[in-house]
Amino acid sequence: MIDFAPLYSRDVACMRYSPIRRMAKLAMQPGIIGFAAGTPSATTFPAEEIRRIAGEILEKDAQGALQYGLTLGFAGLIDALNSFNKTRRGIDCTAEEVCIVSGSQQALDLIGRLFLDPGDVVLIELPSYIGGISAFRNLQAELVGVRQASDGIDIEDLVARIEACRVRGRNPKLLYVIPNFQNPSGITMSVEKRRALLGVAARYQLLIVEDDPYGEVCFDESLMPSLRPIKSMDTEGRVLYLSTFSKILAAGLRVGWIVAPRPVIEKLDLVKQSTDLCGSMLDQRIVAECLRQGVVDRHLPKIREFYRRKCRVMLESLEKAVLPGVQWTRPEGGLFLWITLPARLDSEALLSESIESARVAYVPGHPFYVDDAGRNTLRVAFSKESEDNIRAGIDRLAQVFRRHLE
Ligand SMILES: Cc1ncc(COP(=O)(O)O)c(C=O)c1O
Repeated sequence: MIDFAPLYSRDVACMRYSPIRRMAKLAMQPGIIGFAAGTPSATTFPAEEIRRIAGEILEKDAQGALQYGLTLGFAGLIDALNSFNKTRRGIDCTAEEVCIVSGSQQALDLIGRLFLDPGDVVLIELPSYIGGISAFRNLQAELVGVRQASDGIDIEDLVARIEACRVRGRNPKLLYVIPNFQNPSGITMSVEKRRALLGVAARYQLLIVEDDPYGEVCFDESLMPSLRPIKSMDTEGRVLYLSTFSKILAAGLRVGWIVAPRPVIEKLDLVKQSTDLCGSMLDQRIVAECLRQGVVDRHLPKIREFYRRKCRVMLESLEKAVLPGVQWTRPEGGLFLWITLPARLDSEALLSESIESARVAYVPGHPFYVDDAGRNTLRVAFSKESEDNIRAGIDRLAQVFRRHLE
């Protein structure tokens, strides 16, 4: 047997298996109440409409839909998307400023490969999305964590971190943020902070990578003005905006998008060519038709209500659970909330007890940090389980915590 270890690239040596993927296996055991996987509920996918639309596309133009397409994406989707960007997200852009990707995870990888050399600094919220952390870490970037408050990133801490990097002769290149119902914390960044970020980015010549998969998964439509993407306020072209249809249509379609200045999109074309030549044409055409035929617009109120109810049940169950010294976030959208235990408790150590005795899975918070913190935190997703299971799961989880709080 060949010893492959010395043959792997240095990039691969930096790669880590996602604890979430590992957790997903455990959570799939029968009888486990799954608060671990933050995937959207498959029951929300408009399967019937997608089946009909896929049939129509294949009926009318199977040859085109099954062929290779342009690297930057299917023009019909980019058109439909631009009206979505404008009316729903307040982002006014041209077709040349968009790149369709196979999910926003690909966007994170492409942007990383476009801008980062080993040792380049990326500023990251604490905690942050593991997929973003891995994409940048895999490229041997240096990840510098920035504290978050209940209204989003701590601007003073951000400036202090940037200054500290500069003292060491390093100018951070990218700032990665998830302003709406952040994965993993459920926190939403205030409008003031969004504006302030643009100021800081301009002062220090940073690019902002704004990852917005959850903005439309907002439980109360009246909040929409406060969820305006930073990109919609960006007059300088400093923001690279990413979003996805994974949470608002169907995750398996693997369609996401980037909005960025034209020169960046032109370079992304180059980087993406060597990755996949193009995304799936069939998937892109299905999404374009879903937009055109109003499937997404009709679907959004349903998923908002679906997740709003589940989140409310989880919050009510936590309130009832009597957990002295335990705190949690109260998200107004998205799929998860974040629990902070007293500092002496380690959520990773408690996980096996939770799975074995309570039959409840969650994700320990530590891997969402880049500074080795967060051992007393955990993410619980309310997306997957029924309301009854959420009640039972929180009740059982609380019993585990209480044994250690006493
Ligand atoms: C913050 C964030 N970014 C990106 C993604 C990747 O989404 P997708 O590749 O399905 O578009 C996720 C998925 O959970 C996420 O939470």
